[in-house]
Amino acid sequence: MITQKLSPDGAPAIYVDTPPGQLCLTFLQPDIVRVRLAGGNFSPRRSWAVPPPDHAFSGTDWEVFSDPSTLRVAAASGGLTANLDPATGRLSFTDGQKRNFCSDAEPPKADSSGVQCVKEVADSEHFYGFGERTGIQLERSGRWMHNWTTDPAQMHSTGVDPMYKAIPVYLAVRPGGPAYGLYFNNTWRSSFDLRMPGQLMYLAEAGELDYYLVYGPTPSEVTEKFAALLGHMPLPPRWSLGYHQSRWSYTPDQEVRRIAAELRRRKLPCDVLHLDIDYMDGYRVFTWDKERFPNPARLAADLRAQGFRLVSIIDPGVKSDPDYAVYRSGLEQDYFIRDASRQVVHRYVWPDDSVFPDFSRPEVRAWWGELQRTLTDTGIAGIWNDMNEPVVFSLPFSQGGGSVGSLPVDCPQGPPDERTTHAEVHNLYGSGMAQASYEGLLKLRPEDRPFNLCRSGFAGIQRWTASWMGDNASSWEHLEMSLPQLMNMGLSGTPFVGVDIGGFTDHATPELFARWIEAGILYPFCRGHSAIGTIQQQPWDFGEQVEAIARKYLELRYRLLPYLYTLFYQAHTTGQPILRPLLYHFPDDPAVFHLHDQAMLGPSLMAAPIVQPGRHARSVYLPAGVWYDYWTSERLEGASTILAPAPLDHLPLYVRAGAALPLGPLMAYTDEKPLDPLTLEVYPGNGQFDFYEDDGHSFAYQDGEFTVTQLAVSLEGGRLVVSVGPRQGRYQPDPRRIIVRVHGGGSQPPVEETFEDTGAFRRLYFDL
Ligand code: GLC
Repeated sequence: MITQKLSPDGAPAIYVDTPPGQLCLTFLQPDIVRVRLAGGNFSPRRSWAVPPPDHAFSGTDWEVFSDPSTLRVAAASGGLTANLDPATGRLSFTDGQKRNFCSDAEPPKADSSGVQCVKEVADSEHFYGFGERTGIQLERSGRWMHNWTTDPAQMHSTGVDPMYKAIPVYLAVRPGGPAYGLYFNNTWRSSFDLRMPGQLMYLAEAGELDYYLVYGPTPSEVTEKFAALLGHMPLPPRWSLGYHQSRWSYTPDQEVRRIAAELRRRKLPCDVLHLDIDYMDGYRVFTWDKERFPNPARLAADLRAQGFRLVSIIDPGVKSDPDYAVYRSGLEQDYFIRDASRQVVHRYVWPDDSVFPDFSRPEVRAWWGELQRTLTDTGIAGIWNDMNEPVVFSLPFSQGGGSVGSLPVDCPQGPPDERTTHAEVHNLYGSGMAQASYEGLLKLRPEDRPFNLCRSGFAGIQRWTASWMGDNASSWEHLEMSLPQLMNMGLSGTPFVGVDIGGFTDHATPELFARWIEAGILYPFCRGHSAIGTIQQQPWDFGEQVEAIARKYLELRYRLLPYLYTLFYQAHTTGQPILRPLLYHFPDDPAVFHLHDQAMLGPSLMAAPIVQPGRHARSVYLPAGVWYDYWTSERLEGASTILAPAPLDHLPLYVRAGAALPLGPLMAYTDEKPLDPLTLEVYPGNGQFDFYEDDGHSFAYQDGEFTVTQLAVSLEGGRLVVSVGPRQGRYQPDPRRIIVRVHGGGSQPPVEETFEDTGAFRRLYFDL
């Protein structure tokens, strides 16, 4: 039986009775289809669910064709066709070019025993995304991956699964075929099993089978559509793109001042210092230790005068202490999670006996957001949200902490009209805390873009926070793992990500630290952090040579800020990742499908960091096209593999032909001085880049206070033509010179032209 009526989300939908149950198909637009299968009635939309309601999309007309073996629903204007076998409930999809993809290998299932969806995998098909994973592989075939937010008890080396985040999102790519993505809209414990050749199995322990199929046909179109579905990251303040220096813990305040002074004295660019748990009074969140930090407002102000911002850590566990205002207020308002017998749940974390806010309730999020006032009033610039899988210890921390676990899955949670148990919202705990933090910061300082950082989270976490990958180790394996991990996070919709540079646990060696900072300046979120009890891991703790290397690469990061900030703006508006695997730009080149140790920073820069010890050279794959060595300007033909020399101070870095990279002057911190001169590093070829600028911290850009300068590079005859501007938009940058520097003249030095930037259009010609 086929019925056409509105879905529970208020969008026109097709309902078909099949043996596994009633299937509901909704075309959100011609190339995004939602598929639902429920054992009984479809459940109403959850307030904590990630996607916007189906009717928020443009929709599409469709036609239904039916013959005895197949029911076809074809979207208008060359969109997707869903092909359903009514006898089994199996679905497959066809695109406008009649290419088949995303076919069910078995009938779908959603009943009291759980949810199952098995997709066929073509021979040449490759899989990416899946959120936060371990191992150095970029491509995820052969893996069994679970979605259950967890603080892994053992070091998260290859094979450790699950991790802190649960992001049931993947991207499928094959040469010549359409790239597509799936997001499973189910927050219960679930898994992806890619161990069986020829199939990808998704299982969830409860809830509905509910997935969104997002058609490319290119990987970048898939990520852009995922962003429309799962949300875009907000534009962060520009200072958060600078270097962050952290350690568990810089304490007392004199130590924070000392670190700040060392960074400035040694001319290591840095914008942010992090305060880990020891700034608090007995690990009571939203308090200060009066002895160690007697005057935090003065500390923040003094550091601010030196160009630093402070970010402080907050954990969800609230110390159970009747003399503590936060505990009392949460208890009085019944904001803490209770167990099935209605007793408030107590578990051990840093402050020993602790209780846990229910972030799935809006009033609890509002309360928590407001508690941040004690920090913002003191001059704290951003919040670092930790331990929110949530993790608990088996013993009091004061007795060693013991092994880790989480809250009982049968704890009732959620707003009164959406009551559920922890089992359904466990994976959302970190997202709820991040949302509370972000929305609270926005209320407390409505003029400033919030910055916050978060460890756990579900799909869509990018809407509220940057995230880091938790407690890695100072090991080569963890350095090597960082690029594939972060690139897959980007493909899962989460662009603002990083790992602890230098490694959190264990002791970095000088060589490891040097290589890590070379790779680390590519991370969208760029922070050095290390654990208590490990050797000091500030850049100067490894001797002069390593300090000089750290300076060289932090300076490169800071010079690249105009380019990077534009990439963040693109991520904000389109959902494109900032750090991208090569397949993102070269999806038809099988040579890049498994390439885990090279990465694109935006469309123009490609890096091949050294991620193994003792290396002084490495092979680098250059995809088709022309490339230039960033350091020597040497012209290199692509579709080739080269041997790149890589002495300890060298990050192999390449620029794509046709690039015009906007670079700024050296700076100690991001708003130290105006962007003068603005240098456009130009590499012969054909290309274009829309360089974005605004005030870097407020929301004025949303009212048109920004400017975009189109940079265009083209080869015409024997000449290179570089066009700059005109500047478009209301934002007025400070007066400045523009230097156009053209590379690529063999051993010749780059050719330069300088002019005053009036915002008017300029065209320059260079003989090659
Ligand atoms: C957790 C965090 C780590 C932090 C430590 C102490 O292990 O992941 O970054 O330093 O807690 O707060």
